Amino acid sequence: MIKKKWWHDKVAYQIYPKSFKDGNSDGIGDLRGIIEKLDYLEELGVEIVWISPIYQSPFIDQGYDISDYYAIDPVFGTMDDMDELLLEAKKRNISIVMDLVVNHCSDQHEWFQKALRDPFGKYGRYFYIREGKNGNPPCNWRSYFGGSVWEKLPGYENLFYLHMFAKEQPDLNWENPQVRQEIYKMIRWWLKKGIAGFRLDAIINIKKDLRFQDMPADREDGMCTGAKMLQYAEGVHEFLQEMKQEAFEPYQAFTIGELFDFRPEEMERYIGDNGCFESIFDFAPHILGGSEKGWFARRPVTPDEFRDAVYHSKTVSQDIGMMANIIENHDEPRGVSRYLPEHDINETSKKMLAGISLMTYGLPFLYQGQEIGMTNKQFQSIEEVDDINTLDEYNVAIENGLDKEQALKLIAGMSRDNARTPMQWSNEPNAGFSKSNPWLAVNDNYSEINVEEQKTRKDSVWSFYKKLISFRKNPEYTETVVYGRQIPVLTELKNFMGFYRRGEKQVLLVLANYQSQKREIVIKEKVKRILIDNYEGSCDTAKPIQTEKGTVFLMESYQFLVIEV
Ligand code: GLC
Ligand code: CA
Repeated sequence: MIKKKWWHDKVAYQIYPKSFKDGNSDGIGDLRGIIEKLDYLEELGVEIVWISPIYQSPFIDQGYDISDYYAIDPVFGTMDDMDELLLEAKKRNISIVMDLVVNHCSDQHEWFQKALRDPFGKYGRYFYIREGKNGNPPCNWRSYFGGSVWEKLPGYENLFYLHMFAKEQPDLNWENPQVRQEIYKMIRWWLKKGIAGFRLDAIINIKKDLRFQDMPADREDGMCTGAKMLQYAEGVHEFLQEMKQEAFEPYQAFTIGELFDFRPEEMERYIGDNGCFESIFDFAPHILGGSEKGWFARRPVTPDEFRDAVYHSKTVSQDIGMMANIIENHDEPRGVSRYLPEHDINETSKKMLAGISLMTYGLPFLYQGQEIGMTNKQFQSIEEVDDINTLDEYNVAIENGLDKEQALKLIAGMSRDNARTPMQWSNEPNAGFSKSNPWLAVNDNYSEINVEEQKTRKDSVWSFYKKLISFRKNPEYTETVVYGRQIPVLTELKNFMGFYRRGEKQVLLVLANYQSQKREIVIKEKVKRILIDNYEGSCDTAKPIQTEKGTVFLMESYQFLVIEV
């Protein structure tokens, strides 16, 4: 078994601050709004909260473009508000985790402004500034948000700076020890203030393939996705270990990495005793169905692919450390809209997905609104979209010959704005999120799906989440739910997830009928008790029958069970 850590038995929750709760009625969520809702989070059973960036920012990429790491953006409040938040969170046993965005900063950051004035001076070396090829970019890498990763330095014919994301997000030069020291200093400053740790944004990108060479084109634009260079960039672990030793370890900080492009066989380098981070998000199900061509060419994910991806992640990680389980976040569509067939999205199937996510080995990491089963938004036109990434993907679809309507239809399901619509607190105007018009329109379904209504109902998605969270903390079962080994079972069945969690005190069996058709399931063990059933309270609640073949269940559509065997 892995070495125990304080955060293993917790449940974490991500707040996207602009859309969580507006405290001063300007239409944008803020720190006062978060403070207001701490009791709500405590009631739900959340003990770790990661807040997406609240630093000073021009908001080209919604705060992931930081112009001052030591300042709170006025849109969110003041440093006093932040101090109050930390204090109030502590009273409720909630640890606050901030977002660490240090692959790049904003082009408005004073370092970059100074670099612009003197590209060959001290601050020029804070970034990757390179000569082009006769006025053309140094190489053919495409940025994550479209176009070249190279942007011309204003006033120079043949000098370019590197940006893996938007051109307003210049990449910081991690090869420069001064840059690294500046970053560690900033991290220590925040940790000293009392935050519990950081979520590390796009962190694998900090190491570049410094040859900056052309790669074979993967689209007709003649470019190749910049992400590909990560395969050739050696040495990211040296930076990460140094950061761990100099900044995180002295404060025993909790760290959770966002990384997509890594080799699963290198898991030990990332998590566990010698890993660079405490945990990393499990994105395995989220990358399924992707296409080099763009979002428009993605294909939907089947239940079996989802299951196999989740199982594979556990196989490669559970002897080493604990990954974090998510079904959605601020960059991904709503989990229920993505992992359930459109015609089958209902409270029962949403609860099944909740059950899978919370009973799978790992740290459950909820995203705001997930606990009430918020869904994707129906975008009527591209004008309703704010997200820079979606706008680029829309253009890519158009360039590939799709008409506007088709393009919108194909990319809408992946839009990052699906998860960014305001939190649905009640059926009051603007979903109770704000007294003014919200910065991004609320989802039309807020009168049916909202916290206020779901809290009054025992059989709501919210109540089911609360039950799963309390189950994780139930002293009788916590050791098994947190550390019990996950062993797949009944893997030959289609549209089905079944696994054991083998703990020291007991064995739990988790069964999910991932389809609308009922089916009969036979297990070899006798049932001691049924602990969780998403049909509880209805006449279709599970009724196991003992036969000579074993125990037989008739499982209803999307039924989810946790059984002690
Ligand atoms: C991460 C963030 C995303 C952001 C990007 C650039 O992937 O989660 O929202 O756009 O990094 O900072
Ligand atoms: Ca506000």
